[in-house]
Amino acid sequence: MIEELIQKAKILQSALPYIRKFYGKTFVVKYGGSAMLEESLRESFAKDVLLLRYTGIKVVVVHGGGPQISAALEKFGIKSTFVGGLRKTDQETMHVVEMVLSGDINKDIVALINKHSGEQIYAVGLSGRDGNLIRAKKLNKEEYFREIGLEVPREDIGFVGEVLSVNTHLLQALMDNGYIPVIAPVGVGEDGQAYNINADIVASEVARYTKAEKLLFLTDTEGIKDKDGKTISSLSREEAYRLISEGTIKGGMIPKVKSALRALQEGVGKVHIVDGRIPHSILLEIFTEEGVGTEIVNQRSMD
Ligand SMILES: Nc1ncnc2c1ncn2[C@@H]1O[C@H](COP(=O)(O)OP(=O)(O)OP(=O)(O)O)[C@@H](O)[C@H]1O
Ligand SMILES: [Mg+2]
Repeated sequence: MIEELIQKAKILQSALPYIRKFYGKTFVVKYGGSAMLEESLRESFAKDVLLLRYTGIKVVVVHGGGPQISAALEKFGIKSTFVGGLRKTDQETMHVVEMVLSGDINKDIVALINKHSGEQIYAVGLSGRDGNLIRAKKLNKEEYFREIGLEVPREDIGFVGEVLSVNTHLLQALMDNGYIPVIAPVGVGEDGQAYNINADIVASEVARYTKAEKLLFLTDTEGIKDKDGKTISSLSREEAYRLISEGTIKGGMIPKVKSALRALQEGVGKVHIVDGRIPHSILLEIFTEEGVGTEIVNQRSMD
């Protein structure tokens, strides 16, 4: 019995070097819509986020909601169309997107965290329209698709946005006072128009503006797979572009990789893509040497 307790104490102590290293730093966790489908995993996610915050790591959660938006659109009889991993968004679709993201999912995550939060730390839900948190404009699709070497689609993709700026002041004020911001990826245009922004892009911009130490993408695969279906443990910029152009990285993985590379370029310390279906994947990534999933790096190291 005492042996078992000592083992537990040892495990706790083995986290000390990481807690010391990351104390006071900011981590951005992108919580993918596909990773949040199972109830027990969602509870576990909420507790892991709180654990990070209580150890002194400032956490921002940015969530997606792809599958949930598609399900809601289907109920309303609206077809989902994707172009290069981005959802084509007319005004009617935007309305549903905002309902699902800012209304439903955002509040669910906030409530889930606050259910376990105790008295010192609380989650606060925000969309990019609150406090002008995410100023946006219509996505420049020429630039977006050219950068990743894909053909620019002719069709208009509607109210799909890109980030102009993030209200860092608001995020810092919340984080410094013990709150965990939970962000729905909806941006606000100059005229107040809502824009649907891929959550990966929002997460990477939030990481950049808050000078985050780590950006973690929790998704529904073990990591980025090569053409034989094997998980790649470390992926460089060059390889990433090659895998996109040959079609091995496709759909929802495109904005993730693109955002990851941009975040690294803008000074974010490390970017990982991890499997949100594994219990405690965040803790495994942060508090163990081995790590899990795929790390994205600017350049392949020479060793
Ligand atoms: N090379 C690849 N390796 C791994 N997954 C890939 C690859 N290419 C495409 N994918 C797809 O990317 C998907 C993950 O992106 P997706 O947008 O669906 O989820 P998410 O971003 O986690 O959730 P949300 O969009 O709701 O925020 C995987 O489920 C997989 O189908
Ligand atoms: Mg996605």
